[in-house]
Amino acid sequence: MAEARRRVWVSQPLFDDIVGRLDAYFDVRGTAAVQTYTAAQIAGHLREAAGALVTLNERIGAAEIAGATQLAAIANVGVGYNNLDIPALAAAGIVATNTPDVLTETTADFGFALLMATARRITESERWLREGHWRQWSFAGMLGMDLHGSTLGILGMGRIGQGIARRAGGFGMRVLYHNRNRLDAGIERECRAAYVGFDALLAEADHLILVLPYSPAVHHLIDAVALAKMKPSATLVNIARGGLVDELALADALAHGCLAAAGLDVYEGEPQVRPELLALRNVVLTPHIASASLATRRAMVSLAVDNLIAALGEGPDAGHPATPINPGLPAAAGGDRKTTAIKR
Ligand code: 8YV
Repeated sequence: MAEARRRVWVSQPLFDDIVGRLDAYFDVRGTAAVQTYTAAQIAGHLREAAGALVTLNERIGAAEIAGATQLAAIANVGVGYNNLDIPALAAAGIVATNTPDVLTETTADFGFALLMATARRITESERWLREGHWRQWSFAGMLGMDLHGSTLGILGMGRIGQGIARRAGGFGMRVLYHNRNRLDAGIERECRAAYVGFDALLAEADHLILVLPYSPAVHHLIDAVALAKMKPSATLVNIARGGLVDELALADALAHGCLAAAGLDVYEGEPQVRPELLALRNVVLTPHIASASLATRRAMVSLAVDNLIAALGEGPDAGHPATPINPGLPAAAGGDRKTTAIKR
């Protein structure tokens, strides 16, 4: 008698033609509509699953996997994975994967778009026009900050940060960066970026963009103290994770002229945006869309699907998902997962 296929849970509607590749190997349980899950609902879905394809909206930690004895792999559709408790997954022998590289250039494009919109007051001026204020035009109205000739500070100089630095060169900007580790001299040259300390970055940037991964260690890295070190004429752009910024301190700085403007694609309480931010005119707010081009979102899902197939020991790359977050765990070919912890 044929063995029952292992179950895979797909948490959100993604691209059916790509997710459909899972059908060749697994019993796929998906959803036709976008869902918001409670922790208990996630645990319920994982309890029966060998694998899961999830987005950053699904938080998965020790509690969610406690009863999931067959769960062997989680493929995150995103490069950031702060929604996953990686030590808890690793301790339970669950392979986790993410989607780096495929979104780098699209996300860097968007970072630049948000920077320009923020510095040049594009959404604010469009709103003003639509509200019928153009007759009150004045020569000194809607003045913004230049990009060309200005100093761009990049906090977090991974792949996306480097993509932003390359774009900044084309705009005639001076580029400074701060990162956990200084980059090789060759990459610094290619990006035309100079390494500086955190405080110098804050003090010298005319435009500061956050592109570093979130972890509790960098929670509210940009707080009232950090904001006070920035130029009052500066702009701040966050395309990384909301938790990096103390949003109340930011709203206060923006409201009191301590910072010129901000562009935010990410928020602490997504999908909620603080009323203090919504009330301000000098902040551009977008709903976490930095990777949202059609080609890139499809490439992210494709990579995540391939990762899941491989991590569950199937397909041409069985046992070798392309982009594991916790490499070293064996691929699971079926049955109960191994529960030995990997050496970290
Ligand atoms: C999300 C992102 O993945 O990749 C990331 O880390 O923040 C985005 O690209 C996207 O919103 C889908 O969850």
